[in-house]
Amino acid sequence: MSRAAPKTAHRAALMHFTADPAVRGESACEYFDDGLLVIDGRGLIVECGAAKSLMPKYAGVPVTVHKNAMLTPGFVDTHTHFPQTGVVASYGADLLDWLNRYTFPAEEMFADEKIAEDAAKFFIKQMLANGTTTALVFATSHKTSADAIFAQARKHNMRLASGKVLMNRNAPKNLCDNLRDGEKDTRALIRRWHGDGRLSYAITPRFAPTSTPSQLSLAGKLLQEFPDVLMHTHLSENRRELKWVRELFPNERDYLAVYEKRGLACERSVFAHCIHLSQSEWRRLSSSGCAVAHCPLSNFFLGSGMFDFAKAQKHKVRAGLGTDIGGGNSFSMLRVMEESYKTARMLGKDLTPLKMWHTATLGGAAALAMDSRIGNFAPGKEADFIVLNLSPTELITRRLRACQTTSEKLFALAMLADDRLIKSAHILGKRQNL
Ligand code: GUN
Ligand code: ZN
Repeated sequence: MSRAAPKTAHRAALMHFTADPAVRGESACEYFDDGLLVIDGRGLIVECGAAKSLMPKYAGVPVTVHKNAMLTPGFVDTHTHFPQTGVVASYGADLLDWLNRYTFPAEEMFADEKIAEDAAKFFIKQMLANGTTTALVFATSHKTSADAIFAQARKHNMRLASGKVLMNRNAPKNLCDNLRDGEKDTRALIRRWHGDGRLSYAITPRFAPTSTPSQLSLAGKLLQEFPDVLMHTHLSENRRELKWVRELFPNERDYLAVYEKRGLACERSVFAHCIHLSQSEWRRLSSSGCAVAHCPLSNFFLGSGMFDFAKAQKHKVRAGLGTDIGGGNSFSMLRVMEESYKTARMLGKDLTPLKMWHTATLGGAAALAMDSRIGNFAPGKEADFIVLNLSPTELITRRLRACQTTSEKLFALAMLADDRLIKSAHILGKRQNL
């Protein structure tokens, strides 16, 4: 007879989303001033609610009390690049110059296994220290770089997706693969890592200009063949990039068509940036069920433009938030939230505090098709959560005292916070060393 695994519980303020606040309004957000999160021995959520009402039911379960703190689901970073950590915050270039001056030289170093391993370790630590427990991550074109990020994520038992970059033209020779090796390495990586623990594979053509049409078709063929892997690429980020894509693919009606024609636009596709899309492209993203990653830190940093979140909502396109390290200059999803709000304001639109937090958690999980496993505290989901310190600075303590509603509190936190807010990160209920 198997013994029931022991439960544990955490007590603090607690906030999560049970639905999309853009659809359900404020009732989509569950908030308890004094909450309890109960987790089973496998690291799955048993229940959450008001501590006072749940405590009798779980008498005898060990409770960790977090004073002046709030429990939320871990953040989901829907677009980032681990090999670019070393060139984060590089000065003075737009996307294409920045790729040539800083990014490609940095990525060339990832042919070295030791460099890749060290960078992957550092990257995962930075993510966790910033409260990010799941991410969709670019590696480089080297197979070993994907091995490195998967191996580190596996050590932490994280739910994470990544893939070797497919790129066979318009980049330094050392970074270019070829049709045969790109396919062989991708297949080997899917076999090795997809479904190992909580890892999943993302077929990763860098962007249209660095793959030949044949390589994009190969990526589409693989996406078809492996029905539960993701596809991860960039789309419509920078005006010079758009012009280049028009020159390279003169027969396509627009940028999205380059991917569509090769079978790369489906419910498992995640397109980063999507700034300069036409109405038609938005409609087609929607009808194909694609997801997009909004990366405002990077969009401002590289001067790429402003993503219109309201359009994604209007077209019912799943959208997540991404740091886009190293085009983005912070690992903090709180800072990404801040810039997503400012982007909306610059466009004369609104992004509500609840929608912002939803997008960083449950919405991001949905964009990665992982919302049946993570993103909130529904019973049975994986207990990836963070503990936020509600008085990390004197300013935040003072500002929170003046807040009347949950929404006001969440907004002020995102606008004023940095990594000092993150007290701890827990994967499948297990506290990680930060
Ligand atoms: N487009 C193609 N490659 C990249 C990259 O590494 N970062 C960003 N932000 N955009 C890209
Ligand atoms: Zn990117």
